[in-house]
Amino acid sequence: MKVLTVLGARPQFVKSGPVSRAFERAGIVEVRVHTGQHYDDALSDVFFRELGLGPCAHHLGVGSGPHGAQTGRMMEALERVVLDEAPDHVLVYGDTNSTLAGALVAAKLRVPLAHVEAGLRSFNRAMPEEINRVLTDHAADVLFAPTSTARANLLREGIEPTRIAVVGDVMYDAALGYAPLADARRGLLDALGVRAGAYVLATVHRAENTDRPARLAAIAGGLADAAREIDVVFPLHPRTRAALGVAGIVLDPAIRVTGPLGYLDMMALERGARLVVTDSGGVQKEAYFHGVPCLTLRDETEWTELVAAGWNRLCPPASAAHVARAIRARLADAPPAPAPALYGDGHAAERIAARLLLPADA
Ligand code: UD1
Ligand code: UDP
Repeated sequence: MKVLTVLGARPQFVKSGPVSRAFERAGIVEVRVHTGQHYDDALSDVFFRELGLGPCAHHLGVGSGPHGAQTGRMMEALERVVLDEAPDHVLVYGDTNSTLAGALVAAKLRVPLAHVEAGLRSFNRAMPEEINRVLTDHAADVLFAPTSTARANLLREGIEPTRIAVVGDVMYDAALGYAPLADARRGLLDALGVRAGAYVLATVHRAENTDRPARLAAIAGGLADAAREIDVVFPLHPRTRAALGVAGIVLDPAIRVTGPLGYLDMMALERGARLVVTDSGGVQKEAYFHGVPCLTLRDETEWTELVAAGWNRLCPPASAAHVARAIRARLADAPPAPAPALYGDGHAAERIAARLLLPADA
């Protein structure tokens, strides 16, 4: 059994950590292809080093660009690799342009397509990720849904139940597996001058926030206000750094700004935080995995069970005052009640490997 895995962006490297290990254990030959969507060391290579992933067999070097050009370049290069490698399955993760490129190439070449993190929906078609995930799910032959909510979304769209497997969330597998290594990075808190349980960790990178100066200014202002009462650590995605520059927004010097962090440093900061404030899909869940409440700077979330369980709350960044009030209210909240295991049991990756090994007509 040969699986060709398409990777390209930071969260996909994290998701592939436990899955690549499970493939090795199951005797599945994995050919990993890096599209080059993320290319800075801090967004790409550091994850391969920290997650113990070997180098990818193919690197397409596509880089940044407008959606059509970027996705098109990926497809052109991927088509050649898939034809050469002739895999039994193409595997894609999540909802980025790399995901969509892999999905379209597999579907057109009629190679069975497997999608990890299937069935997530924001029901907001203005998000590029929503288009990517809907199209990928409808092209996929095997859909690995993290939750029963995701499965229900797929069934509602007419996807046959036999194509869907609820396996749990591979990011939970990763969080459990790498937490001991992250704990060895706790010295980062001292280096940043923050104390465990006494700071806010913030990340922002989503287009709906970075590409709208009013929302970006509201976030920057809200974090500046919060930083007067509690330490705020803000690892900046390069997209956000660039957008702040273009909009002429200067972050308050009280905010502890860093570059993008590696996975283990990020996890160490998540585990020590009093509150996570983010627009990231992965970071919303990781806050919960590590027992930290979250405030999500968006109008909606795909991970609705976290909101229902009280671990996450939505805050559309309408103004600096609104963001500051929401952070203050969240800091004053009682800790959420323990929630049942929402994302599986830490063995999602093994289930994915086992399902791919089943005969096609099983
Ligand atoms: C992408 C995904 C998003 C995911 C995120 C994870 C799409 C449409 N978006 O968003 O779903 O949540 O990755 O982090 O696929 N840049 C660098 N260095 C890099 C990569 C990018 O400086 O290594 C800068 C470039 O200016 C680039 C911008 O970041 O134009 C955006 O990069 P891109 O990969 O297009 O989207 P992300 O915002 O990273
Ligand atoms: N992450 C990281 N360093 C950072 C920010 C995020 O290692 O500075 C990790 C985070 O812990 C999670 C993944 O990147 O595992 C989430 O990726 P991101 O927020 O870029 O994308 P999303 O999940 O929203 O698609």
